[in-house]
Amino acid sequence: MRTLITTSYKAAAEIIARNHVAAFPTETVYGLGANAFDSDAVKKIYAAKGRPSDNPLIVHVGSVDQIPSVVSSISRHAEKLIAEFFPGPLTLVLPKNKRISSLVTSGLSTVGVRIPKHTIAQKFLNACGVPVAAPSANLSGSPSPTTWQAVKSDLNGRIPCILKGDPSRVGVESTVVDCTGSSPVILRAGGVTLEQLREVIPSTRLQKQQSKVPKSPGVKYRHYSPFAYVFIVSGVGETVPMKRSAYIGLRSVRKNSFGMKKICRNEEEYARSLFHFFRECDAHDMETIYCEQVSEDGIGLALMDRIRKASMQ
Ligand code: TXA
Ligand code: MG
Repeated sequence: MRTLITTSYKAAAEIIARNHVAAFPTETVYGLGANAFDSDAVKKIYAAKGRPSDNPLIVHVGSVDQIPSVVSSISRHAEKLIAEFFPGPLTLVLPKNKRISSLVTSGLSTVGVRIPKHTIAQKFLNACGVPVAAPSANLSGSPSPTTWQAVKSDLNGRIPCILKGDPSRVGVESTVVDCTGSSPVILRAGGVTLEQLREVIPSTRLQKQQSKVPKSPGVKYRHYSPFAYVFIVSGVGETVPMKRSAYIGLRSVRKNSFGMKKICRNEEEYARSLFHFFRECDAHDMETIYCEQVSEDGIGLALMDRIRKASMQ
């Protein structure tokens, strides 16, 4: 199939309205969208990504007034989080509206809903006229795409359309928060931090690690992984600099013997750069990627989660 690569959000929305898939930019990572009301459209997402269908998808809308078309009720906690963080890098898990295809939720009675804080994404979503189910627009298992070129490299010829935008500003996925219980539970760390959530709802907590049946099924799969081996190090002393080893972190590395390296000014830049760096390393045939460990507060929590998953090949 020929892939249209366009800056026209109207053209991309037209493709969604015809129950085909289209990739689109958001501030976290690029998504691969389809009409969330239509099971046949949603099937095309799983087929293009090669994704197991027991991993539910997030549903995206362009504005708050469309949330009731996705969920069947909004808890008090969810109302507060919507008021504070929507639009933004946050996904709320709530009881699902009947119209949402059960393929989107892989049979769960809940659904994840999010409004991206991204001008093109909002225009595109509003033009679609239906809620848009979308996972990250990468082949299953590979790092999430933070540029349209990364989407193209994974999905060219497999999807009919890529809506072009700038590189993603946040660079890691949204925070997924379960709002169906008595206090909010973070199922996946992401762009909105635990500290920010606790400022609004102090009882917000992290899900205890890996119960036997993960509540966020996506968590059990190998994820975010480059082909290179990823090692977590606390400094350059723990590395073996070579032509085919790469380094990413905050502290500068004096020796220039790494094949590739990226020194970031702060954790935000580290998060924004990580997936892109992984892809660049693969493109340049790196064997090993050393990632400097950072403390797990602020965006550091999501960053270390992604690095840890990438290191568990
Ligand atoms: O930033 C993001 O969240 C990006 C952009 C495109 O919005 N999307 C994304 O989607 O990362 P995906 O499919 O790669 O990850 C969705 C995560 C998975 O961990 C999935 O298990 C969880 O959200 N999830 C979705 N619906 C859920 C539900 N009803 N209950 C629990 N977890 C859910
Ligand atoms: Mg993903």
